[in-house]
Amino acid sequence: MLSGSVDHVEGDPESGDVVRVEGAHGERLGVGDYDPDSQIRVRMHGFGPTDADPDEDWLLARIEAALAWRATHPALRDTDAIRLIHAEGDGLPGLSVDRYADWLVLKLTTPAMWRRAQRIGEILQPLTGAQGAWLRGDTSVQTERALFGSVADEPVQIHERGRAYWVDLRHGQKTGFYLDQRDARDLFRRLAAPDVRALDLFSFTGGFALAAQQGGAREVVAVESSLPAHKLLCRNAPGVEAVLGDVPEFLRKDERRFDLIALDPPPFARRKRDVSAACRAYKDLHLWALRRAQPGAHLLSFSCSHHVGAELFAKVVLSAALDAGAELQVLGTLGAPPDHPLALTHPQGAYLNGLLLRVVEPA
Ligand SMILES: C[S@@+](CC[C@H](N)C(=O)[O-])C[C@H]1O[C@@H](n2cnc3c(N)ncnc32)[C@H](O)[C@@H]1O
Repeated sequence: MLSGSVDHVEGDPESGDVVRVEGAHGERLGVGDYDPDSQIRVRMHGFGPTDADPDEDWLLARIEAALAWRATHPALRDTDAIRLIHAEGDGLPGLSVDRYADWLVLKLTTPAMWRRAQRIGEILQPLTGAQGAWLRGDTSVQTERALFGSVADEPVQIHERGRAYWVDLRHGQKTGFYLDQRDARDLFRRLAAPDVRALDLFSFTGGFALAAQQGGAREVVAVESSLPAHKLLCRNAPGVEAVLGDVPEFLRKDERRFDLIALDPPPFARRKRDVSAACRAYKDLHLWALRRAQPGAHLLSFSCSHHVGAELFAKVVLSAALDAGAELQVLGTLGAPPDHPLALTHPQGAYLNGLLLRVVEPA
């Protein structure tokens, strides 16, 4: 194992090597995976005065631990689609593993995890009994392949809390589905009383739209600009009015008002320098969304931009309400479910910030 200070790694480490990191006075800070091509040079997987080598036993122990607690966790029941391994949150930076019924989808985002890929597959196959595992590339599709078994090129069906969704494991966004919105979808279902008109904005394959139908909403409209996602939406939630188009344009043109709205845009700030532009975009969206709300409507609003924290997001929503002359109550905060744990040593992992709002007075 190579060692070095926070800003200098001694020796000549190669991409994917394990390095021991020391503080300014030579004290041991911990152990991590080295990536000279990333802004984050070392992704830590152990803290404190440890020399523990992240060998095969380490990998097996961490994977087993991540799977074991989820298998019996009461908040993760009644779904066959869950995140089994959540990178830093499970002490395995650079590795995400999602289970969709009988298949796994892996996302590896560091050279060290790519080096471990084969061994990860050998561990996961017997532990999960999955029929196949698909390795999704981070940037290049050339790296995408089956890690073991076979994974169909066609969408597969999953069952989440009584809702059936078709999921495209090989080509869909993320690993095929937004597993991190499961609890918010359940809440959407509960809020969709029979005479409710629901609007799912940035709907992807209809996650919230189907939940609203399940809750008994009398009318559900979903807006999404991606054609493959729109097609799956139509398959997942027949009966929903599926609009293939741009959300800001829809909000400007369609004058209907709704009792229940999900506003779940893509990340507007992928880099720190995008934060101001992202805040303007969030504000603009809310200005318009508040014009589509009925008095007393519920609005579930999300930011999945790493660099826009919960506090900043709430300020942007508040300033939109003030400018629009709307009155809002915050009924709660929303975030990722427990299969996406947050490591206290990695607060940057809190990327999904949501608000449950009651629109007392719309714009
Ligand atoms: C965070 S995802 C939504 C996930 C979804 N709510 C779910 O639970 O499955 C954002 C979605 O917005 C779509 N999108 C991005 N820009 C858009 C735009 N201008 N108008 C409509 N949809 C857009 C993306 O294709 C993506 O499906």
